[in-house]
Amino acid sequence: MAAPHCDREGFATKLGVLTATLGSAVGLGNIWKFPYMTGEHGGAAFLLIYILATLLVGLPVMISEILLGRYARSNAISTWRKVARSKAWMLVGASGVVAAFAIMAFYTDVAGWVFNYVIKASMGDLNTTDPAVAEGVFGAMVSNPWSSLAFQWGVLALVSTIIIGGVTKGIEKTTKTLMPILFVMLVVVCIRSLTLPKAGEGLAFLFSPDFSKITGEAVLMALGLAFFKLSIGMGTMMTYGSYFRQDANVPLVATRVMLADLTVSLLAGIAIFPAVFNYGFEAAAGPGLLFMTIPAVFSSMPMGQLFMVVFFVLTAIATIGAMLSLFEVPVAFFTETLKDCSRRKATILVAIGLGLCGVPATLSFGPMADVKIFGLNFFDFYDQLSSNILMPAGGLMICLFAGWLFGQEKVKECLSNNNSLHNGAVISLFLLIVRYVSPLLVLLVMLNGLGLLDLFG
Ligand code: PHE
Repeated sequence: MAAPHCDREGFATKLGVLTATLGSAVGLGNIWKFPYMTGEHGGAAFLLIYILATLLVGLPVMISEILLGRYARSNAISTWRKVARSKAWMLVGASGVVAAFAIMAFYTDVAGWVFNYVIKASMGDLNTTDPAVAEGVFGAMVSNPWSSLAFQWGVLALVSTIIIGGVTKGIEKTTKTLMPILFVMLVVVCIRSLTLPKAGEGLAFLFSPDFSKITGEAVLMALGLAFFKLSIGMGTMMTYGSYFRQDANVPLVATRVMLADLTVSLLAGIAIFPAVFNYGFEAAAGPGLLFMTIPAVFSSMPMGQLFMVVFFVLTAIATIGAMLSLFEVPVAFFTETLKDCSRRKATILVAIGLGLCGVPATLSFGPMADVKIFGLNFFDFYDQLSSNILMPAGGLMICLFAGWLFGQEKVKECLSNNNSLHNGAVISLFLLIVRYVSPLLVLLVMLNGLGLLDLFG
């Protein structure tokens, strides 16, 4: 297999490959976005579509992206120059860089809320099970422009510092140690939540589907969430793929990451929905759902405040793993494309750009609430532009390229590590799905979701 950039710094160990990739996938998407979107779109039916989207589209795109990145050993844009004949494919990479900016613009805002909640939890400001009080605390936080911006910029500074430390040292070390602890913490919250008197109602909401809730928009949202969750369709996994070791089993790593990621999301759902129904929160409360219900769960248990602080600290750390991988897309690109651009310089440039793009997202809950583009405030605009348009479109192109243009023989060679893995059946199944199923599904869902087709009558 060609490996043009042998001097490239990469993930040092096999475990490092897995944990760094998982560190990118697991983040606010599981703990914050998955529960609130499931709540907004009616529960179990949405969950089911999300799982289907993950299996039939998410996983194949993830494998394709890592495969291409590892083959070219390059960043999200230059990879296309190395694998594709036409330069036009570099536009897919460019759209990924735009998506990375759009995501970071709102992601850093929400990460700032999490850091803010660490402080609020330690001061005892969150010890309440009363929905009105919890809503008041959350509302006051997000609508305060100066403190929100200060937290967002603080988050940007922190992530930049880790990035400047380099790929292997910075990313691997941070993620390897902390993921397992977050997992255990989530299990603790689930146990508490499941023992609440009205836990059954929450579980029914999450697990017994009402198919009348399915609309074209909900399906597009579920697909977008699958892309957002696995950090795919915008070059993150391509860039990470370029740091993969040659002996890593790509389909296996991707499947493990997908399963672990799904487990974390389900745990977050099990932690949150019983509490929603028990204390009378609104399932469709939107972006504030996590920030209102989790404190209620902890407030009703012994040593709750201590656990609450630990929970938000760990969530904050999970956001860092995801943000590192988002930063990595433009940073790797600038470092390798611009003349004399060190990692340090690229990181600082990206951070400043993000600091500016992030302002209107952060102010969407305060002074800029009424400023709309396409009927959405900036926060939702960045979110929907990335998850519902740029990532699915990028994913579609990635499937088409890996399935039809890259060459089936080359795919087989790469995914079997030059025939050393004996995973022929897995590769055939992958090729079947990535050639026919995934592209068709993405196309139909996008056309339908954007109102250009009407699948649901
Ligand atoms: N997957 C991350 C999460 O769930 C978000 C993310 C999206 C990270 C795209 C990188 C790229 O929080």
